[in-house]
Amino acid sequence: MEVVNSKNELTLLVGGYMNDAKTIGFVPTMGALHEGHLSLVSAAKKNCDIVVVSIFVNPTQFNDPEDLKRYPRTPEQDFKLLEEWGCDVVFHPSVGEIYPQKDMREFDFGYIGTIMEGAKRPGHFNGVAMIVSKLFDIVRPNKAFFGMKDFQQIVIVKKLIELFKYKVEIVECPIVREKSGLALSSRNKFLSEEQKENASHIYKTLKKAVDNIAASKVNSDVNKLKKWIADEINRNPFLETEYVEIVDNETLQIITDLKDSTQKRVCVAVYVGNDTQGLFKTAEEEKKIRLIDNILINNTHIENTLTE
Ligand code: PAF
Repeated sequence: MEVVNSKNELTLLVGGYMNDAKTIGFVPTMGALHEGHLSLVSAAKKNCDIVVVSIFVNPTQFNDPEDLKRYPRTPEQDFKLLEEWGCDVVFHPSVGEIYPQKDMREFDFGYIGTIMEGAKRPGHFNGVAMIVSKLFDIVRPNKAFFGMKDFQQIVIVKKLIELFKYKVEIVECPIVREKSGLALSSRNKFLSEEQKENASHIYKTLKKAVDNIAASKVNSDVNKLKKWIADEINRNPFLETEYVEIVDNETLQIITDLKDSTQKRVCVAVYVGNDTQGLFKTAEEEKKIRLIDNILINNTHIENTLTE
């Protein structure tokens, strides 16, 4: 496995593989690797000849400077894991290497950039687009592998590809979860075992909502369903829901009727803190850990069972 810090060196190295007609699979990451990243590397290995993984904590996608400062950085451990997982090339540039000057680009993704993470984390997707476009230009992959936990990010990256005509195929990989149901995330490193156990209530609630839909135990009022999900998550004293949204799986349009025929996804952002016996300060004050998760609603269940 080669570890490369310079973009020119990376472009040359990958150019050599391309001349040998090798296909390039790319896994962009911000490091602090876990089994979720491993699933992306495995999918890339299955699909492509050469696997390139980038590790870069991208400052332009953090809307909160404190969040950037404390984001976990474990490069030596990451290199070791990537070697074990059979990665061919690690791209680990410095901030100066990626942003020699301030990147002034402003991307307009229209509606899909304005809801959920776009609304709650201003500038986040602009920063994601900056780094992903730069990485695509440097790596020139045939396929890029993204995890479905960041579902809205995938929709944004697909739009970026369409707008700038990148010749890269996006491969969407399923969310990897702990046995408890908690979606794997680099941010889980900040959680105590107790917090992790309580955070698993997020997925358990999403699953219960979907099961209730399947069993016709909810009515078709979307707002009532969203409120039920938020209330159910918030019943756990460690958790504080930021948003619950139910959106069209392709267009991200907000669903107003559960019975329409589109594929739908429930998306949530939740703060995990400590049990303060219900005496929460604001999430901002307490610097709780913010997690996101999502689940697909199975349409056939809705069509067959919802009558209201
Ligand atoms: O999903 C992530 O880890 C990041 O947003 C990405 C795609 C590596 C860009 O920094």
